[in-house]
Amino acid sequence: MDPGPNSDLNSKPLQSVEIRLANQSDIAVICQNESLAYEIPWSDKILRDCLSENYVCFLMVFQNKIIGHMIFQQVLDEIHLHNVCVLPELQNNGLGDRWLEYLEAYAKEHQIRNIILEVRVSNLIAKKLYAKRGYREIGLRKGYYQSQNGREDGLVMKARID
Ligand SMILES: CC(C)(COP(=O)(O)OP(=O)(O)OC[C@H]1O[C@@H](n2cnc3c(N)ncnc32)[C@H](O)[C@@H]1OP(=O)(O)O)[C@@H](O)C(=O)NCCC(=O)NCCS
Repeated sequence: MDPGPNSDLNSKPLQSVEIRLANQSDIAVICQNESLAYEIPWSDKILRDCLSENYVCFLMVFQNKIIGHMIFQQVLDEIHLHNVCVLPELQNNGLGDRWLEYLEAYAKEHQIRNIILEVRVSNLIAKKLYAKRGYREIGLRKGYYQSQNGREDGLVMKARID
């Protein structure tokens, strides 16, 4: 596989990643990262709508490159996590875990008690990550996701923040 334009990021220490809010000028890079990380990425339009509407979008930045994003919505005392993403070449380095830790800290700071999300039933890595951080399965949405072969179920998971 072509290591891609970010391959120089490999093997560097990742302790110094920064997290900041996204703005419209970041869309092109987020879009590019989406298509690297997801089989069915969000479109440019969906991402633009997220940033202009009532969504919160944070970016993970390392050595001035955007290496991940996280998009969620806050509704009353609940956060609905819609998207969490780490560039493939940097996955399995604890950054997904770092994203969820950051989200939990955000929730505490805003007195939010619950985080809810959907995940494809086939996404074993994400499910493992969520379970590790205390998310529990609370339901199943039949055919929630578009997939290469039609539709795929979405598992609904929830974490209680104390
Ligand atoms: C899900 C995602 C955000 C996790 O990010 P990450 O940086 O790889 O996560 P972490 O490094 O913190 O690893 C989390 C767990 O998954 C496991 N894992 C990560 N990548 C793995 C891989 N390629 N193979 C096997 N296990 C893997 C890790 O071992 C870890 O578990 P452990 O701590 O028990 O060892 C990332 O895989 C991603 O962006 N995927 C594409 C987008 C996506 O599916 N988002 C979730 C939508 S609901």
